[in-house]
Amino acid sequence: MLDITPSHTQIAKPKSATQDAQANPFLSCRGLCFSANSNVLIKDISLNFSAHGMSAIMGFNGAGKSLLLRLLHGVIQPDSGTVLWDNTPVTHDNRKRQSMVFQKPVLLRRSVLDNLLFVLKSRGMSDPSIAFSLLEKVRLENVSSRAARLLSGGEQQRLALARGLATKPEILFLDEATSSLDPTSIAIIENILNEECLKGTKIIFASHDIGQIKRLASEVIFINHGRISEQTDAASFFKIPETKIAQTYLEGGLPVI
Ligand SMILES: Nc1ncnc2c1ncn2[C@@H]1O[C@H](COP(=O)(O)OP(=O)(O)OP(=O)(O)O)[C@@H](O)[C@H]1O
Ligand SMILES: [Mg+2]
Repeated sequence: MLDITPSHTQIAKPKSATQDAQANPFLSCRGLCFSANSNVLIKDISLNFSAHGMSAIMGFNGAGKSLLLRLLHGVIQPDSGTVLWDNTPVTHDNRKRQSMVFQKPVLLRRSVLDNLLFVLKSRGMSDPSIAFSLLEKVRLENVSSRAARLLSGGEQQRLALARGLATKPEILFLDEATSSLDPTSIAIIENILNEECLKGTKIIFASHDIGQIKRLASEVIFINHGRISEQTDAASFFKIPETKIAQTYLEGGLPVI
């Protein structure tokens, strides 16, 4: 029988993830600004992330979560500001030691297996058994020869995660990676994320799933209209957030528009 018992209970969360992030920044950004079509979408964001645990980015639709993740991963460039990883700018080369699972998975028009083999080969890893074990991990081993574009939305998300994990990233960015998944698939993915976290992978994820954030995150970064409202340890955030807008979000209220 499928064991989908969440393994998050085994994880020792740091006492104060946010304090650790400020004292020992692993990834940080300073003064990030990003505009498009004369709209300022990301407004002077400065953050520190510690090397440990999972950091959740929360906020209403359009708040800037996906843009912030893309800026941190370096797939889009800010108008001003910097991102430093271990005190080094993120470049085309060192970005290969990170992965990002995008909100809308971008899959190659090839089979499920080939999607993984392609990524592995690009990193000089040609052993197909790695691809098969990843497919097993995300429970897609039975559809390995199917065209990736024929997968359901949830299956595509699981393949995108397998691809993200294939390169053994030191930082894994996830943008709503479980948004189309059923509870069983969510449990499978969360167990994988817990395992990765225990292995030392830093995970930064955007999600609207409050239960998931409570289960996984050691800290919460709440973003509103392109600005950081707060960065708080998850336990304190869910007890009482520091800002009114985050309280409104947690209470299921609507933002002023
Ligand atoms: N390339 C772009 N050009 C113009 N506007 C953009 C661009 N990318 C994002 N935006 C706008 O920036 C804002 C923030 O977008 P973003 O995708 O980061 O939101 P989000 O917080 O991830 O929302 P969601 O919860 O819906 O995923 C939105 O209003 C979006 O329309
Ligand atoms: Mg988004």
